[in-house]
Amino acid sequence: MKDYLPEYAAKRVSAPEAAALLRPGQQVFLDDALSQPKALLDAMGELARTERLRDVTLYTTLDIYDIPCYAPDVAGKLNGVSWFCGASARRGVNSGCGDVMPGYYRDFSRIVREHKTVDVFCAAAAPMDKHGYFSLSTVASYTNVLIEQAKYIILEVNRNLPRTHGAPIVHISQVTALCENDMPLLTLPESEPDEISRTIGQYIADEIPDGATIQLGIGAIPNAVGAALREKRNLGLHTEMFTDSMVGLIECGAVDNSRKPIHRGRTVATFAFGSQRIYDYIDDNPAVQILPADYVNDPAIIAQHPNFRSVNAALEVDFYGQTCSESIGTYQVSGTGGQGDFVRGAVLSPGGKSFIAFSSTAKGGTVSRIVPTLTPGAIVTTGKNDVDHIVTEYGIARLRGNTLSRRVKELISVAHPNFRDELTWRAKKQNILI
Ligand code: COA
Repeated sequence: MKDYLPEYAAKRVSAPEAAALLRPGQQVFLDDALSQPKALLDAMGELARTERLRDVTLYTTLDIYDIPCYAPDVAGKLNGVSWFCGASARRGVNSGCGDVMPGYYRDFSRIVREHKTVDVFCAAAAPMDKHGYFSLSTVASYTNVLIEQAKYIILEVNRNLPRTHGAPIVHISQVTALCENDMPLLTLPESEPDEISRTIGQYIADEIPDGATIQLGIGAIPNAVGAALREKRNLGLHTEMFTDSMVGLIECGAVDNSRKPIHRGRTVATFAFGSQRIYDYIDDNPAVQILPADYVNDPAIIAQHPNFRSVNAALEVDFYGQTCSESIGTYQVSGTGGQGDFVRGAVLSPGGKSFIAFSSTAKGGTVSRIVPTLTPGAIVTTGKNDVDHIVTEYGIARLRGNTLSRRVKELISVAHPNFRDELTWRAKKQNILI
């Protein structure tokens, strides 16, 4: 068998040396969460701050670190473009230090193939195996297209990253340079759902029959739904982000994936992020498949699972059911991610349902999140023709298949009581409550 260690040694450099390979004009792509190469990013920031790197564009997704291109002292030298607006990009985008790339998560691969030049793909990876392959570990997302299209691939190898099944792989022969950084993996603290989230979680759990396949999105409420499903049996998981509550559901026996028509017996996700418990669980576990988002989030694939249940969060919904999950007015909070993909896939599934959930008020009860019209500048994440159920701590509003007038009544019935009279008055004034 060929020994790949000499090639590995020849390509190994320090993180600053790897960052110094970047050239002005290049488009550099990163993927989600733990795929982001921390030491390499810090080195890029340092080079830009000391005027040794400029005019490089970084495409980022769900950022978990401070990405230098969004920092005021680096923006303009490194340009940031975000597909999702995690915390770092959010700060940059809202202060004019970063741009936004709209798109459904399932479409990222196609958009890249058709519209982008990938000069460099930079990623964190699990160590090389004896055959010369690196596992891209916790993230499949749109990594495969970045590997396929990249002129250069730079890896940051971290022995703490799990090797997972299904995740993209890169061979040492495809790698331009690699550095090593065995930092501990970033974890999200596990949090207990508050009372409102628990109430909403229970409403939705009551709508999930044994044997259903589920997707749970980002935020406190999807996590609370996970916590409320522990008494269920034979659930399946086909989800975008693999989270803590899902490990709990597998370990308590609620999820066994036994009724899935495809990937039977296996959990399917496109990336994993959360606690060390997740990383330990997915390590070399054939029962978890980390697969690309253009497959996992494809509504046609989702719809193959009967009784699919999708659960996502939002910030605001108007009388039509237009749902904003990405901004508060013009202030960018987040991105579309896979919400649109799973809402569509769920309603296409035989017996399927989608739920978009949030507490009825924000800002200490002073603002209703059910509104006659969206706040000017609010981004529509789920359109009126796709929305299915809206859930608050006051119950479930069924919108799909209902007239506008009926939708308004359903929505007002789950609004906070303090706002119901005003919402009714506004609906009458708009002539949409008949
Ligand atoms: N007006 C003013 N402020 C509002 C508001 C409104 N209409 N709605 C929410 N807020 C505030 C909240 O009060 C809260 O403030 P705080 O942090 O000071 O407490 C903050 O905005 C976040 O709201 P919250 O409901 O706690 O958000 P969350 O953490 O549950 O996340 C989304 C909700 C919508 C941002 C998140 O689910 C998301 O990014 N979704 C888009 C992508 C997606 O759905 N992907 C799914 C596939 S994984």
